[in-house]
Formats: sequence, C-alpha cells, structure tokens
Amino acid sequence: MTPFTCGLKGRNLVFTVLFCISAFGLTTYLGFNGQFQHRRMHFIFREHKPMHHQFGLENPGENGQKLTLNLEKPPSDLETYRFPAGLSEGMKKSIEKSVRWMTGLKEPPKFLPEYKNPCWYEDFDPLIGKGKIYRDNWYGMFHPYAKKNSGAFKSWEFNLYSWWSQNKKRLRCIPYFYLAGIAKCGTTDLFQRIRSHPDVADGLLKMSQWWGRLAYNTAGNGSGVPFIDFVDLFDYPARVIEKYTCTTCPKLHHQIVGDYSTNTLFDNDYWIRLLGNNPQLHEPNITTAHYIRYFQPGAKILAIFREPTERLYSDYLFFYKGVKSPERFHSLAKQAVELFDNCTKIFSVRSCAYNRTLHSQEALRIVRLRVGLYHVYVNDYLRVFPRDQLLFLRLEDYHNNMNESLNRVYNFLGLRDLNAREEYKVLRKGAVNSRSKNNTKIGDALERTKILLRNFYAKHNDLLAEALGDDGFKWHANEIKQPADNGPEKIAS
Ligand SMILES: *[C@@H]1O[C@H](CO)[C@@H](O)[C@H](O)[C@H]1NC(C)=O
Ligand SMILES: *[C@@H]1O[C@H](CO)[C@@H](O)[C@H](O)[C@H]1NC(C)=O
Ligand SMILES: *[C@@H]1O[C@H](CO)[C@@H](O)[C@H](O)[C@H]1NC(C)=O
Ligand SMILES: *[C@@H]1O[C@H](CO)[C@@H](O)[C@H](O)[C@H]1NC(C)=O
Ligand SMILES: *[C@@H]1O[C@H](CO)[C@@H](O)[C@H](O)[C@H]1NC(C)=O
Ligand SMILES: *[C@@H]1O[C@H](CO)[C@@H](O)[C@H](O)[C@H]1NC(C)=O
Repeated sequence: MTPFTCGLKGRNLVFTVLFCISAFGLTTYLGFNGQFQHRRMHFIFREHKPMHHQFGLENPGENGQKLTLNLEKPPSDLETYRFPAGLSEGMKKSIEKSVRWMTGLKEPPKFLPEYKNPCWYEDFDPLIGKGKIYRDNWYGMFHPYAKKNSGAFKSWEFNLYSWWSQNKKRLRCIPYFYLAGIAKCGTTDLFQRIRSHPDVADGLLKMSQWWGRLAYNTAGNGSGVPFIDFVDLFDYPARVIEKYTCTTCPKLHHQIVGDYSTNTLFDNDYWIRLLGNNPQLHEPNITTAHYIRYFQPGAKILAIFREPTERLYSDYLFFYKGVKSPERFHSLAKQAVELFDNCTKIFSVRSCAYNRTLHSQEALRIVRLRVGLYHVYVNDYLRVFPRDQLLFLRLEDYHNNMNESLNRVYNFLGLRDLNAREEYKVLRKGAVNSRSKNNTKIGDALERTKILLRNFYAKHNDLLAEALGDDGFKWHANEIKQPADNGPEKIAS
C-alpha cells in the first residue's frame, strides 16, 4: 500500500490517494477531507446531446443512452473544425504557427476515439531511468507550489513507472474542460464540487495557468513553460482515465479531467507578441480562445461570475498585501475608474480591457477593475467557440441553489446524474467562506464606493446580459447583498 498526499493547497484541501491491490486488481480510492469514496465500476450515462460541431461517434449504451467521443480522424472540413468562421487565411496560418511554437508539436495530437477525454499515446522508453521523468518539470521547480508538486510527481513516478515500462506506452491527456474564470467568484468551491463527481479525475494543481499565461511567459522570464510540463500535470488522472471503462460500454473510457485556471478567460496580457496580432490596431485579433479551439476543437469552457463590485472588493482584500481600508479602497477605485474612463475616451473598451500597460498603473494593479468587464471576455469566447461548448454561471445562483447549478455543470460536461448518496456527499458541505479574520475586520466597502463602481459596471453588465440573453447578469439592486466569499487562491489570477 502506498499512501501519498498531493497537497493542492489550503487548509482543508489535502487529498490522499491510496492504491490498494485487491483480488480484482488495482482499485483507486479518492479521499476528500478524510471521507473516502469508492470509485465504482458501474456507470450509466446521461443522454449526451449530439453537437453539430463535435464530430463524434455515437455509441449506444444501456437503454439507448449515448456517449459522444472523439473520432480518430477529424472530418474532411478540418478548417471549420479547428477555426471559427470568418478568419482570414493569414490568421489561420498565424494560429497554426503559434500553437506549433507553444506546444512544440507539428500538429495537434489525434485524440483516441475510445476516450471521452482528449488523450493520446506516447512511446515510453523503459531505459529512461526512474527519477528522470519529472526532473525538469517547470511546475516541480518554479511554481509557487513547486515543493508540493515535486513531492506529488515523485509519488506519481513511483507508481506509474513500471506500468509505462511494461506497456512501452504512456497515455497523455489534456483537460476535457476548462473552468476558465473568474477569481473571487466561487471558483474554488465549484472546483471542489466538480471533481467530487465520480467520473472526474484530479489533476495536480488548481491553477496551471498554462494557456492564458505561462505558455507565453513565465514570471520574470522571457520564455514560456513547455507544453509537455503542462501535460505532465495530468499523468495521474490519465492513468485513472485509462484504467476505467464503463460497464455498459466496456470499450469506452468515460472519465474526464479538467483545468481550473481562473485567468484563462481574461488573461491576454501578451497578445502583442502573438502572431497575427497587430499592435497598431490597439487590440488583439487572436486570443487564447483561438489556440484552445485549434488544439482541441471539442474543449468545453465554463466560468462563474459574481456581481462585479462585490468581486472587486473581495479581490482587493484577498490579493493586495499592503495596508487595506475601505477609505484606501475608495480612493484607489476612484483613480482606477478615472484611468479606465480616460483610456476609453481614446480607445475601445476591449482595447482598454486588454491593455497591459494601462493595468500596470498602481491604482489599476491594486483595484483590478478589468477583471469585472466580463462581457469583453465572454464575447471573445462566443466568437470562437460554438455556444454549446460554453457555460456561464452566476455565484448568486450557485449559492441560492447549488444543486441546480451543479446539475447544469454536470449536464454540460456530459456527466451522469449522481445518486442520492453521492449527491448528499457533494452538497453536504456548505460553501467555503475564506474571508480571513483580518480581512473581515477591515469591514465592508463604503456605500459611495459601491455606488461609484456599480455605476461604472452597469453598462458593462448590460452588455453581458445582452451577449448571454439573460437579464440575471445585470445584477439587479435587490440581490446585491452578497453571499460568502470563495476559497483561497494564493496565486493572483
Ligand atoms: C481581425 O481580422 C479580420 C480579418 O481576418 C479583420 O476583418 C478584422 O478587422 C480584424 N480585427 C481586429 C480587431 O484586428
Ligand atoms: C528561464 O528561461 C531559460 C531559457 O531561456 C530557462 O533555461 C530557465 O529555466 C527559465 N527559468 C525559469 C525560472 O523559468
Ligand atoms: C495602452 O494604454 C496606454 C495608456 O495607458 C497607451 O499609451 C497605449 O497606446 C495603449 N496601448 C495600446 C496597444 O493600445
Ligand atoms: C484623466 O484625464 C484628465 C483629462 O485629460 C486628466 O486631467 C486626469 O488627470 C486623468 N486622470 C488620471 C487618473 O490620469
Ligand atoms: C437536485 O436536483 C436533482 C435534479 O433536478 C433532483 O432530482 C434532486 O432531488 C435534487 N436534490 C436536492 C437535494 O434538492
Ligand atoms: C492579522 O493581523 C495581525 C495584527 O494586525 C497580524 O499580526 C497578523 O499577521 C495578521 N494575519 C494575517 C494572516 O495577515
């Protein structure tokens, strides 16, 4: 028996994974807050709606239920498969070239057809030697959780090496879905509950930040983090995904893994460097969304939003490390709004939202106004991905009816319904409220700050509501009294 912990982060987030050799082979147990949950082998699928964009194979399961999977060969109209409509040939070439540069791969992998999750096999040379697999992994060396990561990598290698050697193959997977935003909107709580689903495997980290940031630039370094270092984060879940198939469709590997980097949606800080973008235009033509779509056309993107004024104050209390007070917040917020409004007198809102120079000015760095301009980012994803590959939630709804919001997420991800016992386990725990004692003492934002910020965000919320066809995103005054804060996120996202 080999117990090991992969401390993801935070107080109550230590996961223990135990391998037990039983008469039936290797059975994986996953622990959550000391509660052990047996991953059972019997699965029934929820009807997975066929999607026009996903060129999938429909495999009839029990009671005519279906599972859509990746096809080995992309459809003949590869173009429309990997690119949104209306892109010029030059733009397509730029995306191809950039992704080649970012991933080091000549072309995106052909995902295995019998896997719901995007996965592929890589040759494995047993002579490579134990201790070398993750030795140079960036996340194991430089990430803020490097120490924990390298500990987890060691355990993974210990457990997986002989399996890979035996097979001379190593299954590689990238996330099936991305919880792409947004910081201080309940992402930590949602993240924990999504992966409580028995068919969702766990990656190493919550915040890999690869697509949105690290692919282009590591902190204080001109070069990006290698793609393969990102893929390494999913090696253990890849083994879980490889191991389990559903009993009603025994050849199908139905488990999935996700990425939970809450900056993916809005972080395009390095857009000026991306091929196909022209700094003279003052705003990006190509964003991270294009790269993800090109590399994994079936990717699902979900995000949770919160009334932006409440989000902003919570973000300030959480990320700013200097002396904090509602008065200071007020004066910074006033400057921030003025800086942004000054920018929009000359440039478009979208241009200002993506302007790194503007947002590195002190007031905007501390009061991260741009993060709440949800409509800019949502519209950019709507332009690139088919609507049914995107899901946007509100923290307020999540708090009022967590069961319903979670079911929407599970449904969106094509996950089966939970049975009563599983549902109880997932819903039992109340929402995480992590506003620290010190930050609670600082008190609420001033009324005049709230008015200032609500006025600022009102037009942006209207645009979000319009883009999503849902007036809930206007956050009417009667629901502004806010629910609890979300969990800890030590890394600014
Ligand atoms: C992006 O490129 C398209 C052509 O592919 C062009 O029509 C459009 O104006 C460009 N937009 C921006 C913001 O550069
Ligand atoms: C910085 O980049 C160089 C290559 O240009 C690489 O060798 C080095 O490991 C990187 N350092 C960090 C901290 O990422
Ligand atoms: C970003 O904003 C600054 C002002 O803060 C402006 O000088 C600069 O031209 C803008 N950059 C782009 C690419 O629009
Ligand atoms: C905004 O622009 C006005 C007019 O140009 C200027 O007086 C003011 O200082 C600017 N505000 C900030 C915060 O830079
Ligand atoms: C959660 O939602 C599902 C599906 O709508 C329903 O069957 C179930 O009874 C709900 N559970 C609770 C605790 O409300
Ligand atoms: C909370 O405040 C106290 C006194 O102001 C300080 O000593 C302590 O370090 C703070 N704790 C944190 C986690 O910031």
